[in-house]
This record gives sequence, C-alpha cells and structure tokens, in this order.
Amino acid sequence: MKPEELQALKQKALQAAAQAPDLPALNDLRTRLFGRKGELTLLLRQTGSLPPEERPAFGQAVNALKEEVAAALAQAEENLDQAAAARPGRGAEDVTLPGVMPRRGRVHPITQAERLILEVFSRLGFEVVESPEVELDWYCFEALNMPPDHPARDMQDTFYVSSDVVLRTHTSPVQVRTMESQPPPVRIVCPGKAFRRDSDATHSPMFHQVEGLMVEEGISFANLKGVLTTFVHQVFGQDVPVRFRPSFFPFTEPSAEVDIGCVVCKGEGCRVCGHTGWLEILGSGMVDPNVFKAVGYDPDKVTGFAFGMGIERVAMLLWGIDDLRMFYENDLRFLRQF
Ligand code: FA5
Ligand code: MG
Repeated sequence: MKPEELQALKQKALQAAAQAPDLPALNDLRTRLFGRKGELTLLLRQTGSLPPEERPAFGQAVNALKEEVAAALAQAEENLDQAAAARPGRGAEDVTLPGVMPRRGRVHPITQAERLILEVFSRLGFEVVESPEVELDWYCFEALNMPPDHPARDMQDTFYVSSDVVLRTHTSPVQVRTMESQPPPVRIVCPGKAFRRDSDATHSPMFHQVEGLMVEEGISFANLKGVLTTFVHQVFGQDVPVRFRPSFFPFTEPSAEVDIGCVVCKGEGCRVCGHTGWLEILGSGMVDPNVFKAVGYDPDKVTGFAFGMGIERVAMLLWGIDDLRMFYENDLRFLRQF
C-alpha cells in the first residue's frame, strides 16, 4: 500500500470517528477498524507479505496510524459522553409533549361546612376563638358542673390521656377558658375537633363541633331561640322545620337540643334520622349559675346561653349524605363532588 493510500485511509477513519452520531455508532466503527477482521488489523497483517526491506517502514507507518485513529476514537467517545450528560433526562425528554395537568384539590366538605357556620355567626357578631384538643379534666368536666362522680360524665364516653387529662369530648371547655380570661360581655364561637368512643352512621370517634357562647346582662332563652333559628334558616333555608326539644346538660339550665327536619328523607323517616324524620344538630341551653361561679362571673348580674353543634351533622344535612363515615374514608370519588 502506498503512503498516499495510507494517508487516505487515515483521513477516512478520523472523519468517521468525528461524525459518529452516538456511542453504538462509534463502537461499530471501532470494530470495523480494529476488530479481528478490521481494516487496520488486516493492514498490519500485510506486513508479512512485503519484501523484507520494506517491512520496518510499513509497520511503523501503520502503527502510527493505528495510534492516531485510536486517540481520535477515544476523543469522540468523550465528546459524546459529555453531550449526553449535558442533556436533561439523558435525551429521553421530549419537551414538545403536552404536560400532565396536576389535579386540583378541593376544600374538604367538613371544612366547607365549618366555614359556612362560622360565616353566619360572624355576621351575627360572634368572634371566632380556638381552644386545646387535649384538655384538663377541670375544663372538660369539673368547671362545667360535672364533679368527678357526676353521673352525667357517662353521657360522653371519654378517651383518657391520664387520670386528669382527656381528649376533649366536646368543645364546651372553651366556654370556661374564655370566661376565665375576660370579663363579660362574651360573644364567641369556637370550631374544633372532639373525641368520643362512638362509632356508627351518625357518630364518629373524632368529629367536629362549633361551640357558641353569649353572655351579658339580660340575655334570655328568647335570644337563644332567635340566634339558633336564624342560624338554621340561613344555612338550610327558610322552609326547613326546626324544633327545640327539652334536654339536659349539667352546664346549662334549662337545656334544649335542636333538631331539624331530615333533609335526606324530607321527614318521611330514614337511616340518617333513625326513622324519626328529625336529626339532632346541636345541644344548647342557658349557662348554669354553677359554671358562672366556677369562672368568677356573678350569676346574679349576667346571664347567657351556650350551644354545641355537630359539624358533620350539618354537612350531612346540607348535602344529603347518609353516612358520616364517608367524610373520613378519603375516597376521591366522594370528595371530588364538593
Ligand atoms: C354536647 O357535646 C354539649 N357540649 C353541647 C352543648 C354545648 C350543650 C353548650 C349546651 C351548651 P352532645 O353530646 O349532644 O352535646 O353533642 C352535641 C352535638 O355534637 C350533637 O348534637 C351532634 O350533632 C354532635 N355529636 C355528638 N357526638 C358525635 C359523634 N360521635 N359524631 C358526630 N357528631 C357528634
Ligand atoms: Mg346530644
């Protein structure tokens, strides 16, 4: 082979190395040149068939050529590596593809109901306050006129943290905490979680209440009825029947539970209303003088009313849901409807 031909072969090899589009192509090229039957391998083998005096020069030339081409292949490989590393997703990404739209979340129905309830009471001049979920026995029971052996403690099956610390069974402790910390007048609502050993279609071990308290001179049962009736009409509509049913709470006297006509069966009777046509949404009453005494208010000067409303019950009635447990199963097919 003449020096010019050797030169041409080198140029061809170097050009092919520089133009290899990717690593597989480069590897192919390497085999074609250096493999067992590769062009350069075969070339070197020709040395033996040359006249002896030509062999050394030819061998040197071919070896120099091999070295140069091998260096070019290594350089080309490095260039391809660097280009691949610089490409995001190693080139797997097609930036022209349309994106995947993230699903938009929604406000949980219980939160929606809570906001609606608070909105109505805010308009009526009530201030929104918060109170702890883990509570001292004193606030949850004792200051609410339930001394340790009071039978009314059995009305609420309690989760105990220790002998005098409980998960609050209702939001009523906020009444005591608020009155302890400020003089009358008081006009507050307090939303939050409550906990009881309860579980069926209308009871959950963790549920939500909104507590309300209004205390000042001259508050009567008529104010209680007026505020709560207004509330029901604003949330459920003017036509929904409301009834005040005499009841008992240790911390109010007199006491009443408020039922509204079952919106699921329109009063016919169904699983939600226990076939009575009515669903209890809250307990209420005039603050018991013993509670005023426990917080240092003068029961001869001020009177007031309080109520505790179940938010799940309100939500069930708002949207005609017949099992409260749906709220806590995190089934997106359910939650997406709100
Ligand atoms: C009370 O909890 C009193 N603290 C309410 C009160 C406050 C009365 C202030 C007087 C003055 P009761 O146990 O009835 O009362 O519960 C009130 C409301 O919470 C019920 O009407 C119901 O709507 C809701 N509720 C009670 N237990 C559960 C439960 N396990 N799951 C869901 N909602 C519940
Ligand atoms: Mg009740």
